[in-house]
Amino acid sequence: DCVAYLDWDLGCFVLELFIPLVSSQVRVAIMPSKSVPIPDDLEFDTNLFLLPGCYQNDLKSVIIPEGFVRDRVKQLAHEIHEAIGDKPLILLCVLKGSYRFFTTLADELSVARHQCKSAIKVDFIRTKSYEDTASSGKVQIIGLTNQDELKGQNVLIVEDIVDSGLTMSRLVHTLQDLGAKQVWTSVLLSKRITRQVEVPEDFVAFNIPDKFIVGYGLDYNQHFRDLNHICVMSEQGIAKYKSS
Ligand code: HPA
Ligand code: MG
Repeated sequence: DCVAYLDWDLGCFVLELFIPLVSSQVRVAIMPSKSVPIPDDLEFDTNLFLLPGCYQNDLKSVIIPEGFVRDRVKQLAHEIHEAIGDKPLILLCVLKGSYRFFTTLADELSVARHQCKSAIKVDFIRTKSYEDTASSGKVQIIGLTNQDELKGQNVLIVEDIVDSGLTMSRLVHTLQDLGAKQVWTSVLLSKRITRQVEVPEDFVAFNIPDKFIVGYGLDYNQHFRDLNHICVMSEQGIAKYKSS
């Protein structure tokens, strides 16, 4: 009952005092992300787009054209800036899939933060969990440069896709173990499937149907990362680049 009578400042002071005792890593409550939903039946004919000739019959359709991706990522940068504000920030690129999302987001975030007094830094981590079109269930963290540099820092994870949640969960726990101060997640594509493990998705660009997609950095057995548009693969393409 006493707490109800505390004024806002005192309440915040008490929270600041106790939250670090409960959790070594403080998550800040933010507004739910305004992700753009891509409907289940939305697919554009590949003939409407410029696509590399080498991928001609490997793709069934385009679900998010490159221009739409870039426009949405610009908006997302502003949403992130509004929520996080002028704090020192490390953008952590999850390789390889996020390389394009990361560069677009980092560029736009620098524009959004043009009046900020604190700098953005970038770092890179590499994970692998997929073979063919299924998650292996085992997440490998292959490389993290400068582990000590994440201690006590605000980190924004920049990830291409969340589906099972296993990779993102592993990443968040890894950063907590390394002593990051605050961790947020930004996601280009959030798949509409049941998560095997619940993970925070703080900033989401698109919410997509349960289809295997490639392009804008995302691969199928290391192919298609250079594709500009986000596409659904054809049966023929899936067979052609199968690993075994
Ligand atoms: N495409 C590429 N990589 C992925 C996907 C996908 O649909 N889901 C998880 N990793
Ligand atoms: Mg990924």
